[in-house]
Amino acid sequence: MSDKLQPPLDATTRYCAVYGHPIKHSASPAMQNAGIANLGLNWRYLAFDVHPEHLRFAIAGAKAMKYVGLNLTVPHKLLALEMVDVLDDSAKTWGAVNTIRFETRNKSGEWVSLAQVSPDEVNDIRAHGFNTDADAITRSLGEDLGINLRGASVLLLGAGGAGRAAALKLASEGVANLFLLNRTEEKATQVAVEINTRFPGVRIHVTVHSPNKAAETIRALRTHNPAINIFEGYPNLPVDLVLNATSLGLKPEDALPVDANWLKTRRPRFVYDMIYRPAETPLLQLAKSIGCKTANGIGMLLYQGAKALELWSGRTAPIQTMREALEKNVYGK
Ligand code: ATR
Repeated sequence: MSDKLQPPLDATTRYCAVYGHPIKHSASPAMQNAGIANLGLNWRYLAFDVHPEHLRFAIAGAKAMKYVGLNLTVPHKLLALEMVDVLDDSAKTWGAVNTIRFETRNKSGEWVSLAQVSPDEVNDIRAHGFNTDADAITRSLGEDLGINLRGASVLLLGAGGAGRAAALKLASEGVANLFLLNRTEEKATQVAVEINTRFPGVRIHVTVHSPNKAAETIRALRTHNPAINIFEGYPNLPVDLVLNATSLGLKPEDALPVDANWLKTRRPRFVYDMIYRPAETPLLQLAKSIGCKTANGIGMLLYQGAKALELWSGRTAPIQTMREALEKNVYGK
């Protein structure tokens, strides 16, 4: 059950946290503290608004204070690649860090989670970067939308940390067409080049949608990336899934991350938004109103968070408890 109480704070309480900018929308503290309580750990999970300029100091601070670990959200997942001491294969494979585990050497000299060692016995500490987003997104797409990704055509909005991990994971699942759209086209093109090299079976396209600079940008991008299909505007081919990995939709004043007319005309079967607060973004509202099957990012948040808790604690995460706490926090029920 989700209502186990946490032990009172004392001098032995251990800490973990999420860093983001903004952060106040985050449901991670509610979800993780419920999981931590269920496991009977004297830990607390906190949330901090950390500006990207201060990320390196904030990670060093957590390390110095012997936190067990960190989660990272917008806009830190790419920046952190350069700020950890060692990258797990998951972070190398999916190209972003959303989880850090602080580690120290045990008596046999092996690196172990800081959670397994009393703080007064800790010597060297290293920050070990993982990616738990990529597996979480495909699991959630399967469970929440029932989509079969093999052979699908996907329009992915966003090529930041979460977008890049999603693009690479979708490519590894064998999508047929992957259209990348990002405000900064160069970032989408970089991801496209990587996919073209690693997953040559995927037809990869970059869509340039900023009309003022389209012609010039397209010419430059095409010259430097002859193997990538770079075009102006939205896909002409049918699209099965539109996946939002931008932060557009977090704030009420945000523009839609995709052109509304294109969405209405094309009416993709599935629309997924990684944002979960608001639980129904304007993108999801529009998609629902035209008959698309929709899901928000709750499932992704749950599975990436459960995996992070397992990495820190070495225990199996209480998924059901974490899901209940998350749904209560986001839907208020
Ligand atoms: P995260 O690490 O969580 O993925 P990120 O790397 O900062 O965060 O990525 C945020 C994504 O939202 C990026 O795709 C970003 O576009 P840029 O690569 O051009 O920065 C996108 N994004 C953020 N604000 C945006 C805005 N106002 N308009 C369009 N896209 C935006």
